[in-house]
Amino acid sequence: MGRLTGKVALITGAARGMGESHARCFIAEGAKVVLTDVSEQVGQALADELGGNALFLKHDVTCARSWTEVVAKAESVHGYINVLVNNAGILGPVANTLALSEADYLKVCNVNQHSVFLGMQAVLPSMLKAGIGSIVNISSIAGMAANYGFPNLAYVASKFAVRGMTKATAVEYGNRNIRVNSVHPGFIQTPMMVEATNESGGDALSLIPLGRIADPKEVSNLVLFLASDEASYITGSEYLVDAGMLAQ
Ligand SMILES: NC(=O)c1ccc[n+]([C@@H]2O[C@H](COP(=O)([O-])OP(=O)(O)OC[C@H]3O[C@@H](n4cnc5c(N)ncnc54)[C@H](O)[C@@H]3O)[C@@H](O)[C@H]2O)c1
Repeated sequence: MGRLTGKVALITGAARGMGESHARCFIAEGAKVVLTDVSEQVGQALADELGGNALFLKHDVTCARSWTEVVAKAESVHGYINVLVNNAGILGPVANTLALSEADYLKVCNVNQHSVFLGMQAVLPSMLKAGIGSIVNISSIAGMAANYGFPNLAYVASKFAVRGMTKATAVEYGNRNIRVNSVHPGFIQTPMMVEATNESGGDALSLIPLGRIADPKEVSNLVLFLASDEASYITGSEYLVDAGMLAQ
C-alpha cells in the first residue's frame, strides 16, 4: 500500500518542473492524480506515460470556469478530490519596482495568487463531500523574504499572499477536517529556475548554505508528506525547502 493510496489529487502546473515531479511521486505512492496545465501536449504525454491512474486536463488556473470544468471532470473520472496542490506559477519579469509595468504586476498576481483563491474555492466543495482534504499551496522563499538573488516585487507580493491565504483557509476549515499548508522552495532545478538565473545573471550557488540547487524530488518529498495522512495534525503551517538560505 502506498502512502497516498485512496487519495485523489489535483496538481496544477503538472506538465513540467516541480508539478511533474509531484505527479510522478504521487502516482508512485498510489494516488489517482489529475494533472492540469496550459501546456497540453507535454501534459498529455506525461499522463500517458504515468498510466491509468493519471488524467491530464487542459486548465488555465486564472479562469474560474476552467476550474469548474476541471473539478467536474476529475470527480466524474476519479471521484471526490481530497488533495489539491496549487503549484502552477510564473516568475514574471526580473525588474526593479520602477521598471515593472502594471500589466506585468497584475499578470503575476493573477497566475500565482488569484489562482490559489480560485483553486481552493473550486475544490473545497469536493473535499467537504469527501469528509477530508489536504491543500498544499506552493509559495516560495519569496513568500518569506524579499528579492533573494534578484528584484521581483510582483513575485514577492504574490508569494506572500499565498502564505496568508493558506493560513486564512486553514483556520476556517480545520473543523471540517481540511488541512491547508504552504511550501516555500528555495532554488530548485526546473525550467523556471533556469529562466530566473539566466535573467538575473546572479550566482545562485553563493546564496545557498548547502551549496547546490535542489532536485525537484526534494520538494516532492515534503509535498507528499503534507498531502498524506502522516501529516494529520499539521495545518496552517509554512515549510521551507531552501537548503538553509533563510537561516542567514
Ligand atoms: N524553481 C524554483 O526554484 C522555484 C522556487 C520557489 C518557488 N517556485 C514555485 O514552484 C511552482 C512550480 O515552479 P517550477 O519551477 O516547476 O516552474 P515551471 O515554469 O518549470 O513550471 C510551471 C508550470 O506551470 C504551468 N503554468 C503556468 N501558467 C499557468 C496557468 N495560467 N495555468 C495553468 N498552468 C500554468 C506551466 O505551463 C508549467 O508547466 C511555481 O509556483 C513557482 O513559483 C519555484
